[in-house]
Amino acid sequence: MLHKKKQDTENLTVQASNTFDEALPKFQIPSMQSDPKIAFQLTQDELMLDGNERQNLATFCGTWNDLEVVEIMKSAIGKNMIDKDEYPHTAELEERCVHMIADLWNSPSAASTVGTSTTGSSEAAMLGGLAMKWRWKERNKPATTQIPNLVTGPVQVCWHKFARYFDVELRELPFHHGRYKSDPEEILNYCDENTIGVVNTLGTTFTGHYEDIEGLEKVLDDLQYKSDLDIPIHVDAASGGFVAPFLDPGIKWDFRLKRVSSINASGHKYGLAPLGVGWAIWRDESHLPKNLIFNVNYLGGEMPTFALNFSRPGGQVAAQYYNFVRLGFDGYQRIMNNLRTCAGYLSDQIRSLEYFEVISDGRSGLPLVTWTNSDIGIDLYRLSNQLRSYGWQVPTYTLPPDSQDVVIQRAVMRQGFTVELARQFIDDLHSSISYLLANPMAPTAPEHQSGGFSH
Ligand SMILES: Cc1ncc(COP(=O)(O)O)c(C=O)c1O
Repeated sequence: MLHKKKQDTENLTVQASNTFDEALPKFQIPSMQSDPKIAFQLTQDELMLDGNERQNLATFCGTWNDLEVVEIMKSAIGKNMIDKDEYPHTAELEERCVHMIADLWNSPSAASTVGTSTTGSSEAAMLGGLAMKWRWKERNKPATTQIPNLVTGPVQVCWHKFARYFDVELRELPFHHGRYKSDPEEILNYCDENTIGVVNTLGTTFTGHYEDIEGLEKVLDDLQYKSDLDIPIHVDAASGGFVAPFLDPGIKWDFRLKRVSSINASGHKYGLAPLGVGWAIWRDESHLPKNLIFNVNYLGGEMPTFALNFSRPGGQVAAQYYNFVRLGFDGYQRIMNNLRTCAGYLSDQIRSLEYFEVISDGRSGLPLVTWTNSDIGIDLYRLSNQLRSYGWQVPTYTLPPDSQDVVIQRAVMRQGFTVELARQFIDDLHSSISYLLANPMAPTAPEHQSGGFSH
């Protein structure tokens, strides 16, 4: 959020201690120090007023951590990921994670391929996009008038940002009614000699469906056969990258497909690491243009980096490594299986209410449930508000163009969610619906509703 300058000059009345009864300015750094206990209490009091993150069914980001992860985060709090010379073992953990993930995604050269940790999928997506843009430049030696374009299915906002920040025309396919992923054949209509690549999503933000990446590879192969255009695929596997390998190993979406040149995923989503880590992995070194790698001579070492940020916390990467070792393949698979079971249970219950049409039931794709109104449906914006009174945060949002008239709700299952919690949610959903039926009011306008959609 960009913080606008506050006009008011309110003070905070400090009640955290009976030895401290002064007021502190709200929007200026106080002129004097405070007791740490008081500063702590003031900060905690603000945080206490946030929603309960375990009941936040809007986010894909992890909200549950082992106590050991908290300890790792504490011991790494001062470690900067960029200081690889000073913290070579944190750098080593990053390196191991890159190769473990490359192996998970069936890289033909998992032990030697290139990749990096990032602050999240957004940064990883930008790096993937930049690599495609530079490879296009190297291939085509374009005239200055040629504008590169990126063709995508329904994508998360990070790709809109990439296109705008890095001067690329975004050609995003329309979202057709009743079709929740892009049609590979239709994608072809948008590709030309200035297409730097095609992005497909493994688990779209809107409904959790996996796009048909194997189908996409086939049509792009045909295109190359007919026209010589050799267009790479980047897979945005922000969520699906740590779901599909455990639940859907038969679906080909990763480096098994030879046209997939890079993949991003969020460690802090189904990678189960704490907030602040993502991953970008390339098929092999040849897919990452050398020009994008900076060799920084810093703090006593020569260090190759490809990142948008310089400084970055190291704790999340160490915690990612901990999770890989702690859970192993089997542990991840059990957690993901549980989440799929929860999603299946929830979707059956929601379907049985007859007020909604379930769009994704979590039995395929990401472990989440999305639903829309049926003809006799309840206003979903009001329902979000009502659920909030039980602590549940359920976003209500419209689908992207050309399906903006479809309003849906989404409940994302994450580590820490259980069938018992799902039962409680359903009870609260029942109560909310009964309340709304007994208290008919004008629908809440979208701009005034709570439970916004941002992930
Ligand atoms: C498909 C997809 N791509 C990218 C992102 C951005 O990820 P991050 O929040 O890790 O930057 C998200 C976030 O939900 C997503 O769902």
